[in-house]
Amino acid sequence: MFVGAMRILGIETSCDETSAAVVEETGDAARPWAIRSNVIASQVPIHREWGGVVPELASRQHIRDICGVVERALTEAATTWTDLGAVAVTQGPGLVGSLLVGVSFAKAAAVAAKLPLVAVHHLAGHIESLVLQNGEMPLPAVVLVVSGGHTSLFRVDAPGRYELVSRTRDDAAGEAYDKVAKLLGLGYPGGPVIDRLAQTGDDRAIALPTTRLTHADRNAPELKGDLDFSFSGLKTAVLRHVRSRRPAGSAAQDAGPALPDSEIADIAASFQRVVVTVLIDRLFDAARRFQARSVGIAGGVSANSRLRAELQARGERRDLPTYLPSLQLSTDNAAMIAAAGLRKFREGATASLDLNADAALALP
Ligand code: KG4
Ligand code: ZN
Repeated sequence: MFVGAMRILGIETSCDETSAAVVEETGDAARPWAIRSNVIASQVPIHREWGGVVPELASRQHIRDICGVVERALTEAATTWTDLGAVAVTQGPGLVGSLLVGVSFAKAAAVAAKLPLVAVHHLAGHIESLVLQNGEMPLPAVVLVVSGGHTSLFRVDAPGRYELVSRTRDDAAGEAYDKVAKLLGLGYPGGPVIDRLAQTGDDRAIALPTTRLTHADRNAPELKGDLDFSFSGLKTAVLRHVRSRRPAGSAAQDAGPALPDSEIADIAASFQRVVVTVLIDRLFDAARRFQARSVGIAGGVSANSRLRAELQARGERRDLPTYLPSLQLSTDNAAMIAAAGLRKFREGATASLDLNADAALALP
C-alpha cells in the first residue's frame, strides 16, 4: 500500500469540460502541491454546432465521460483508490445539471472508497490555479477571475480567504468574447479565435466605448461602483458597428461573415484592446487601493495573449509581482479543484453526504 504525501482526487463538471485530476502535497509551504494527472474531456465540438453551451447536452455528455475520465486520471497518476486521502468536487457555481453529475459521482466514490468529501467553489479553484502554477503569492494580493461566466475581483488577505471586491454588472468578459465572435460569424468559443485574429488587426481602427461605473447599482446594492465591470455596452457597440458596415436591408445584416477579413481583424483587435485595458486598469486600481503585494489573473480569459503580456508589462512598471496560470490551468480543469480541495481539507472543512450542487454558490 502507498504511504507518503497525501493525494486528492479532484472532479470538475461545472460547465462543458469533464475533468478529473490527482494532486499531491509536496510538504513545501511555498509550493504546496504537485499535479500528478489532469485529464480534461472537452465538449467544445458538441456545443460548437449550436453556437454556445447547451445545458442539457452538457449534462448528458458529463454522464458519458465521467467514469472514463476519472479512471484515466488515476492511471496517469499511478494512483489507486486506496492511495487517495480525499475526493474534492466543484459544488458550484455553474450549470446545475452538469454540477450534479460531478457531485453525485464524488459522493458515490467517497462512500465506496471510504474517503472524506470536500466541496469546492469553482472560483476558489480558479484562484488556486495561480498557487498551483507558481507557489504561494505574496499577500495581500488582488486576483481577477475572468471567464465565460465570471468577471470578479477578489482581495486575498490570508491563504484561502477571498473577499469579493467587485464583479460585472452584466456580461462576463469571456461571454462578451463569445457574443462578439458569434456576431462576426467566427464560431464558439470566441476567445481563442478573436485573440488570434486580433494579432493581425489595427487595435485603433474602431472607436469603441470604455464603461466606467461611478455610482452604486440600484438593483444590486452590494455593487458600489468604480471597480465594477460592464461589457454589454461594448458588445452592443460592436454590433452597431457591424450593422452599419453591411448594406441596409440585406439578409446578411446579422449573419456573417459579410465583411472582409482585414476588417474583421480590425474589429477583433479594437474590441480586445478595450477589454484588456479595462481589466488591467481595474486590477491595478484595486491593487493600489488595497496596497497589494502581488496581483494575479485566472480563468479562461487569462489565456488571452494580450492580457498576459499587458499584465506582465504593467507589473514590471509598478514593480509588483504578477501571477498567471499555465494555458492548461487557465480554462476549466480539475487540478485547480483538487488543489483548492486540499487547502480546505487541511483546514478541516469536509462535506457531508447530503451535499447538493448549487448553481449560484457564493464565495466565501
Ligand atoms: O474558465 P473557463 O474555461 O470556463 C468558465 O468557467 O466560464 O472560461 C471559458 C471562457 C470562454 O468565454 C472563452 O471564450 C474564454 O474563456 N477564452 C478566452 C481565450 N481562451 C478562452 N478569451 C480570450 N482570449 C483567449 N485566448
Ligand atoms: Zn471556470
